[in-house]
Amino acid sequence: IITPVILSGGSGTRLWPMSRPERPKQMLSLTAAETMLQLTALRTRDEARFASPLVVANAAHADAITEQLQHVGIAPAALILEPKGRNTAPAIALAAVEAGDRPMLVMPSDHVIDDVPAFHRAIEAALPMVEAGWLVTFGISPTGPETGYGYIQIGAEIGAGVHRVERFVEKPARERAQAMLDAGDHAWNGGIFLFKGSALLEALDEHAPAIRAAADAAMAAARRDGARIYPDADRFGQSPSESIDIAVMERADRVAVVPVAMGWSDVGSWDALHALGPHDASGNAIGGEVIAIDAENCLIRTDGPTVAAVGVSDLIIVASADKLLILPRGRSQDVKKIVEALEARR
Ligand code: GDD
Ligand code: MG
Repeated sequence: IITPVILSGGSGTRLWPMSRPERPKQMLSLTAAETMLQLTALRTRDEARFASPLVVANAAHADAITEQLQHVGIAPAALILEPKGRNTAPAIALAAVEAGDRPMLVMPSDHVIDDVPAFHRAIEAALPMVEAGWLVTFGISPTGPETGYGYIQIGAEIGAGVHRVERFVEKPARERAQAMLDAGDHAWNGGIFLFKGSALLEALDEHAPAIRAAADAAMAAARRDGARIYPDADRFGQSPSESIDIAVMERADRVAVVPVAMGWSDVGSWDALHALGPHDASGNAIGGEVIAIDAENCLIRTDGPTVAAVGVSDLIIVASADKLLILPRGRSQDVKKIVEALEARR
């Protein structure tokens, strides 16, 4: 039995103005009626294989998360509530202390996986190596020299469908990403991990001992209130702020990858969301109260005012209650510049 661990900490600034600190990307319905968080939890609702999930999240989101999961009939085994996010390695370390010797499937709460059976098969393939103490990640076939992903050099097959990781490079610069793409033996890191809690803690001991120590101390002094676990704020605050990719995956030896085609997307931008569709006959992806006449290949979404567009093409238009974003398709990576500009003004 695998314990799903859902990470719900990021704020997803690239989907401004819909994602906001109080309602980050994972709490939005972007690709279906369900929110990204709900879709993530539903992917492991299978009592034969998975236990109830552990959710690691910002304490400020506890009620919203509980409510969203309740809505799809899921009661988390525990909500581990961070006083303040310290990036993914400390968050996963807290869950690992709770999971102990059980295998844990760490999942970002804001990804799309179209082919869930393929995902489950990849998990099955990984399990023997996980039992043997390996740290397993899932490899996505790269489609371009993206700089927002980790890159995995795929080595020899060490089990059916499971390969040794030769090298793990988190978020390379463009040239290096291109070189790895050209080499042809690399995958993107899907950001989904499977390992025993104890194996992760051992790897942290070796490569990032301060993160392990802070997690142990914060959990030992945690306050528990029903399913809610509040790690001790001072002790957790001692933890270095590092991603799991840099703290562990780049450094550890026994790391394996299962390459898998499962219709994965991290929905990292408005352009990515447009690509995911669904599209109308003119290639538009529409959400909310929208009137589009002679519009082509646009993304138009609103959860605020009615949006009407005539005779436009290749635009991204996103409206919230009090904010409006307009940009040509292909420029949505620049949305984070807007968020930075807004922050600078404050
Ligand atoms: N609880 C908690 N606390 N969750 C967090 C925290 C935190 O401090 N920081 C991030 N998360 C959650 C995010 O909400 C997201 O679901 C997940 O952890 C991954 O964090 P991101 O911030 O989205 O990471 P990334 O996209 O930059 O990079 C990772 O994912 C890529 C694939 O999408 C890396 O693993 C890359 O190697 C990978 O390619
Ligand atoms: Mg991400």
